[in-house]
Amino acid sequence: MAKVNQDYLKLPGSYLFSEIGRRVREYEAAHPESQIIRLGIGDVTRPLCPAVIDALHKATDEMGSAETFHGYAPDLGYEFLRKTIAQKDYGDRGCDISAEEIFVSDGAKCDCGNIQEIFSKDNKIAVCDPVYPVYVDSNVMAGRAGEYDPVNELFSDVIYMPCDASNCFVPDFPKEVPDLIYLCFPNNPTGAVIAKSKLQQWVDYARSHGSVILYDAAYEAYICEEDIPHSIYECEGARECAIEFRSFSKTAGFTGLRLGYTVIPKDLKVEKTPLWNLWARRHGTKYNGAPYIVQRAGEAVYSDEGRAQVKEQIAYYMDNAKIILKELKSLGYDVYGGINAPYIWLKTPHDMTSWEFFDYLLKEANVVGTPGSGFGPHGEHYFRLTAFGDREKTIEALNRIKNI
Ligand SMILES: Cc1ncc(COP(=O)(O)O)c(C=O)c1O
Repeated sequence: MAKVNQDYLKLPGSYLFSEIGRRVREYEAAHPESQIIRLGIGDVTRPLCPAVIDALHKATDEMGSAETFHGYAPDLGYEFLRKTIAQKDYGDRGCDISAEEIFVSDGAKCDCGNIQEIFSKDNKIAVCDPVYPVYVDSNVMAGRAGEYDPVNELFSDVIYMPCDASNCFVPDFPKEVPDLIYLCFPNNPTGAVIAKSKLQQWVDYARSHGSVILYDAAYEAYICEEDIPHSIYECEGARECAIEFRSFSKTAGFTGLRLGYTVIPKDLKVEKTPLWNLWARRHGTKYNGAPYIVQRAGEAVYSDEGRAQVKEQIAYYMDNAKIILKELKSLGYDVYGGINAPYIWLKTPHDMTSWEFFDYLLKEANVVGTPGSGFGPHGEHYFRLTAFGDREKTIEALNRIKNI
């Protein structure tokens, strides 16, 4: 008789977004005249840039002719893209990463979720609290997280590293030494970044304890200040202790096209086994590569025109972030993030819970955001707004909040 994977049953329901949807639907049904503005979305809204569209058209035409047709992509990705990434994202920043160490994929979510497979089930993970839920949930599915306590909303075998205003949303070293450390900077949901000196301390910590850092840099393109590392490989010794995830989703609007990559340096060994070998084996067995057309589109992001056009898109979102930050600050809110990240993380006023503030904004301003408590217990009394919306709607939302 078939049996289900009992570990899946330990996952708490995806309460956050279904609950947001339910409350918004109920409100709209009771107030059909309301014009809701959604500032909670984590998806981009600007169209793909012309350089990407041109590359897509060209590659599509190639697929229609026998001479230029492409079937299965190479397991690790096309060399034209891997070489471009190695040069532009790493070599140009002084990081020693070769094309061979880059694994092209269909996005960072799958890679962040799947990477745990190459580690022992006994490994203990550490995550920030609040956190992007994929890191914890994928470990729950793998049976690595222990039991869920619905009262404190924590898993028994996960090390949670609280991140709040007191530590500028950058975790301190936990009391118990983890085997795997998930870090994400610029951060979703808090919008925080990590200084290079602090990231170097994490790299030193991981090396001295034999831990591996799983570094999610999906929002790297939003970094605009100096001394903020774009890659963990800017830190000395990171080749021996860190895996990095990147995505074209927020960098170039590929959320619907799907493209990302993972870097595993050849020097990274656990129990003398190079992790590169294990991930290459997994890739070869379970994955058949991102489409040729999409990899060509990804390559176009690095052309001179592509770079300029993508920069303009990011500037559009970051101008939204500036508007949100400026208006909220002028209203006396404590706001964080929004400078090197498209996320604005605010402290709820008058000690309201995250959900109380959600209802308050929905009712008084018809604006929807994301309650911070949905990302972990230390997100309670915080609230996330995103800069991915349309400019007019963002301005209108802030005007409404001002006029409450
Ligand atoms: C921190 C973080 N990592 C990864 C992803 C997923 O990226 P992708 O679209 O490449 O799967 C997201 C998307 O929201 C994210 O916020």
